[in-house]
Amino acid sequence: MRASYNIGLIRGDGIGPEVVREGIKVLERVASGYDFKLDWHDFPISAETYLKRGVLMTDQELDDLSKSAAIYFGAMGDPRVPEKVLQGGGILRLRFHFDQYINLRPAKLYRGVETPLKDKRPGQIDFQVVRENSEDFYVGLGGRFRGSEHDFHLDLKRRLYEAQFSVNAKVEPDEELGFQMGVMSGTGAERVLRYGFELARRKGAKRVTVVDKFNVLSDIYGVWRDRADLVAKDYPEIQYEFAFVDAVTQWFVRRPEWYQIVIAPNTFGDIITDLAAAVVGGMGIAPGGNINPERKYPSMFEPIHGSAPKYAGQKVANPVATILAGAMMLEFLGEGKAAKTVEEAVEFVLAEGKYRTYDLGGSSKTNEVGDAVAAAVDRMAGK
Ligand code: IPM
Ligand code: MG
Repeated sequence: MRASYNIGLIRGDGIGPEVVREGIKVLERVASGYDFKLDWHDFPISAETYLKRGVLMTDQELDDLSKSAAIYFGAMGDPRVPEKVLQGGGILRLRFHFDQYINLRPAKLYRGVETPLKDKRPGQIDFQVVRENSEDFYVGLGGRFRGSEHDFHLDLKRRLYEAQFSVNAKVEPDEELGFQMGVMSGTGAERVLRYGFELARRKGAKRVTVVDKFNVLSDIYGVWRDRADLVAKDYPEIQYEFAFVDAVTQWFVRRPEWYQIVIAPNTFGDIITDLAAAVVGGMGIAPGGNINPERKYPSMFEPIHGSAPKYAGQKVANPVATILAGAMMLEFLGEGKAAKTVEEAVEFVLAEGKYRTYDLGGSSKTNEVGDAVAAAVDRMAGK
């Protein structure tokens, strides 16, 4: 045995446990093929647990998770528990707690997968979105007030109304007001931009696209742009461009082949990565990594889809996104060859087209796709 990795496992809710099971199956096979070991540690962090014990995740669990080499995450979400509890207290808490400030989301059109875009072929669409993962509108600074509340709120409300140039410049006692602040720090922006440019250099990419909405949100993305200009100076061989997020939604559809490395703030990154996933065949095959590049804390790998409660237990969910997230995890752990083998095995199964789930136009069960990928791994591993 060359190496052993301690992996924290959060299967979560809905289809989470089903897709994670297939991910583990494939990763176990590739680990034995390349002579390393994955030591799985299950953490019962889910809606079910929350309903039983009233706490989603304990401090002790966070502490134990921090000892992992990486975390493998399924999905969280359950109609019986408020979103805020599961997302804020679950995935977002983990991202913040472990300073996973990069969310890396590849979008690649594989052979055998149909894109909804006409005239686009495999090989043409292959880019990565580097999503900022710890700031922007995700910082949770906001409030909801009614006019009759504390003076401070009234004052804040008055100022907010004064600050905007719309017709609502009147403060009535019963008016309701909600606000949410986006925050971008210089260092927070710079570390993400630097990661993106560095990734571009490593991959030999020629172009980096930096996304924002600077024309309207000029303070927050002013910081972002200034840092982009600064970082870009260190990468003279790479062309870089700014793109407004609204334009990006159009160009991801019209000319996805243009993109190589796309760096986006948290909120816009969230939105455009669903779009990117749709363009390459859907959420069922889109993986992501929440990364702490300094490796001070564990990074976390997950499919970018949710828990899809209505499909839970039916074995219809596509495990490919989770399996590919596993490949990203192996790459991060330094098992590059094993990661490549998993990706190639997935590619083989998708191209062959014999085993595919409902979302890709087939009728295979979740475990049948997992088995097919595992069998392909067996054939390819170590070769
Ligand atoms: C994602 C998800 C999350 C996000 C939700 C579940 C909090 O949409 O990972 O893209 O907004 O980041
Ligand atoms: Mg999302």
